[in-house]
Amino acid sequence: MNIRTLKLAYFSPTGTTAAVVEAMAKGLDYDVVEDVDITMPEERQEPLQASAEDLLLVAVPVYGGRIPFLLEPWLRTLELDGTPVVCVVVYGNRAFEDALIELSDIVTERGGTVLGGAAFVGEHSFSSEEYPVAVDRPDADDLRSAEDFGRQVREAVDALDSIDDAPRPDIPGDRPYKERKPRGPVDFIQVDDGCVLCGICAEQCPVGAIDEKDLKHTDPDKCIMCCACIKVCPEHARSAKPGCPVEGFAKWLNENCAERKEPTYFF
Ligand SMILES: Cc1cc2nc3c(=O)[nH]c(=O)nc-3n(C[C@H](O)[C@H](O)[C@H](O)COP(=O)(O)O)c2cc1C
Repeated sequence: MNIRTLKLAYFSPTGTTAAVVEAMAKGLDYDVVEDVDITMPEERQEPLQASAEDLLLVAVPVYGGRIPFLLEPWLRTLELDGTPVVCVVVYGNRAFEDALIELSDIVTERGGTVLGGAAFVGEHSFSSEEYPVAVDRPDADDLRSAEDFGRQVREAVDALDSIDDAPRPDIPGDRPYKERKPRGPVDFIQVDDGCVLCGICAEQCPVGAIDEKDLKHTDPDKCIMCCACIKVCPEHARSAKPGCPVEGFAKWLNENCAERKEPTYFF
């Protein structure tokens, strides 16, 4: 199959999904690459279109065993037309549950043909110095695997005459998908005296929950707990409030999900 453009669509508040996508793109090695980083709200205004001559790589982090709920509306505007697609989820070494099958189902409903899927591990968004979880993942081995997976996909695509000849991957997961927990206001960020009001947190928040004029306040109704503001703060002035559910969950993850999980492919 002749692919003209590799389209990379990804959401990555703390950068681990973006790192996996970059490594896969290296292995895929197409000359023309379109980068569609939908992390920030303004990038989610336009629908993405792709034809049968494009290869789409769509990648999202796992939130509660599902795709992040805020991405569903954008994903449901994808305009695909027999487009070959590779679906990737990145999870924090607990479990990816139904996220990959959910992503694959939406892409299929929108007119794509899923050629393969993969689940990679990234440092858990809730990981902290006190309760580390999958720290520094994806590491060099993970990125080598991602590049290698990209290379395998490229070889398979090059060998296909038509998308109709592509074998369909067996993507794991249950339908109906794992139920989402009801979402109430989320008030878990504390800001200490180290904050110099630089505003980087507000610039990097994927849901605009931090008011540029009131940087120490995070809107609990908008916050999605992605922890981007904690990880990007150059002064390390932002953290989870002691005793909050996020801190409790980080402790649980640290104690129960310490054993290293490896990337898995469905191809
Ligand atoms: C709200 C929320 C829910 C999460 N749920 C899961 C989960 O169910 N399983 C898991 O292993 N990791 C979970 N994670 C961790 C992320 O999937 C993981 O850290 C991922 O690498 C973050 O991607 P990013 O760096 O591209 O933002 C969750 C993170 C957040 C913020």
